[in-house]
Amino acid sequence: MDTENKIIVLDFGSQYTHLLARRVRDLNVYSEIMAPTALADELKKAKGIILSGGPQSVYAKDAVAFNPEIFSLEIPVLGLCYGQQLIAHELGGKVEPGETKEYGTAKLVAEESELFNRVPKEFTAWMSHGDKVKELPIGFTQIGSTNDCEYAAIMDDEKRIFGLQFHPEVTHTENGLQIISNFVFDVCNCEKNWTMQNFLGEKIESIKKEAGDKNVFLLLSGGVDSTVCLALLDKAIGSERIHALHVDTGFMRKGESAFVKTELEKLGINEVHVADAEEEFLKKLKGIYDPEEKRQIIGKLFVEIAMQEIENMNFDTETWLLGQGTIYPDTIETGGTENAKKIKTHHNRAPIIMEMIEKGNVIEPLNQLYKDEVRELGKLLGLPENLVERHPFPGPGTAIRILCSNGKEKIDEALEKKIIKVAKEDGFEAKLLPVKAVGVQGDNRTYSNAVVLEGTLDYSALENASTKITNKFTSVNRVVFLLRPRGIDSLELKEAYLTKDRIEILKEADAIAMETIKERGLLHEIWQFPVVLLPVDFNGKGQGIVLRPVYSKEAMTAKFAKLGPSVLEEMVEKIKAIKGVGAVMLDITHKPPATIEWE
Ligand code: XMP
Repeated sequence: MDTENKIIVLDFGSQYTHLLARRVRDLNVYSEIMAPTALADELKKAKGIILSGGPQSVYAKDAVAFNPEIFSLEIPVLGLCYGQQLIAHELGGKVEPGETKEYGTAKLVAEESELFNRVPKEFTAWMSHGDKVKELPIGFTQIGSTNDCEYAAIMDDEKRIFGLQFHPEVTHTENGLQIISNFVFDVCNCEKNWTMQNFLGEKIESIKKEAGDKNVFLLLSGGVDSTVCLALLDKAIGSERIHALHVDTGFMRKGESAFVKTELEKLGINEVHVADAEEEFLKKLKGIYDPEEKRQIIGKLFVEIAMQEIENMNFDTETWLLGQGTIYPDTIETGGTENAKKIKTHHNRAPIIMEMIEKGNVIEPLNQLYKDEVRELGKLLGLPENLVERHPFPGPGTAIRILCSNGKEKIDEALEKKIIKVAKEDGFEAKLLPVKAVGVQGDNRTYSNAVVLEGTLDYSALENASTKITNKFTSVNRVVFLLRPRGIDSLELKEAYLTKDRIEILKEADAIAMETIKERGLLHEIWQFPVVLLPVDFNGKGQGIVLRPVYSKEAMTAKFAKLGPSVLEEMVEKIKAIKGVGAVMLDITHKPPATIEWE
């Protein structure tokens, strides 16, 4: 079997798995994430295997299942944290269950090893573990230690198996990228051939092969991914063989559908078909307030409309493929890959589409790429920057940013009293908001209350209070800060659903937020900026808007963005002038415990 110039990352459930795979790609080497149960035939194609970290102990009864052949394939293996413990445990060493946790940076003293080529003898490493290796398997030697961890780095030189107790993939580890680079090049002998230009050339060929003489029916949501996907398909098979359908759900950003259509047509794409389905969506969503139910309805109707169009044009699988702009993170569930609990339903993986994928009737040419790689590809294809640099936007669009309610949610007053007390310690007034939002804890989805704080905009105190509140009260997963008005006299939950007037309010507020960060040159540094509408009336003046700017890489984890006071001021002044808005708030919760979106 031919080996491919790639590294496989086996995912044992670390929050850093995607980051690790990205680090390898940053070295111009292709990386792929797989489940630890991947078959030997698949694994053998790689030049090296990296075992990610993971939250469990190798002794846990439900420890992530893996294929033990990993260690006998004669391919170099690097285990990180849990991965290192697994190596020791599996190959006859001993792992000591952790009574104390080592968390934070430590000084690592490195011995001579290919892994530490071009790395100083002493450097800072990021540790985050409970268990640790106590006895090495036969054939292994120690190549690095810290004060608290004797076997911080180990290797079996002959078998080419390496283990690190620390995380070289996180930026807190000095020389971390160099260590990964040493494994990829010095140990695995990979070549630097993963560039967008190469990918583009190869992908055009593979699309031609995959499509054969079939045409492609492309579902164009209008976001960055599907737009780039269309430009790529156009380059490969020509737009006369593509039928691009944009289902206008009514939940796009202000003016965005028209903008995307015009830009694509400028590029020479003949025609983007638009199905104007806003009324249909609103009808189906009437009276619905549960977030998952909203998603299910939107996903189902979206697919139904697409299928209707397919029928109208006599689509048959002998002559047509269904195209989607699915990107890599959408295809991988992190957190033990197979063991991950579903957090939110995405509609490019709706059951009917899954069926078509299994039958080989779907083409997804971007499913190997991360978001910023998609952007790079888009630019190579000639798409303008203001199109490819747009923020990620969820399939269900603004529908999941307009919270709905039957007006019956009651707040737990005893809980509120306790929260008020804790918030006071950091100098804030607090109130429980009568709405619930989605969050994530470990790999579990939560659906809990949000808290609003009032006081002065002091980010360090706010971050403190937010972390304290969400740690202390498990039924709270989100904290916001009140920007306007200066105080809350009354808070009233309203019965509110997805209606035109609410969509309009959100669109206006969202457009203001986007314009402001663009003008201030903040578009790149902010990963995403949802603007959210709450079904809550403030001071009898109107509904609440929440600003949710975040910093992130690939959206697996995120930090709330600390926007400067003058930027906030500018947005607030404009947003509060929108008819129907009674308050403007800023979300000050990281992910976890909150998610980026509120629903
Ligand atoms: P969360 O809210 O889970 O979001 O932190 C992570 C990323 O996924 C996007 N997202 C979605 N994308 N359909 C999509 O296509 C969805 O239903 C959906 N929900 C969340 C979100 O915008 C963020 O970039």
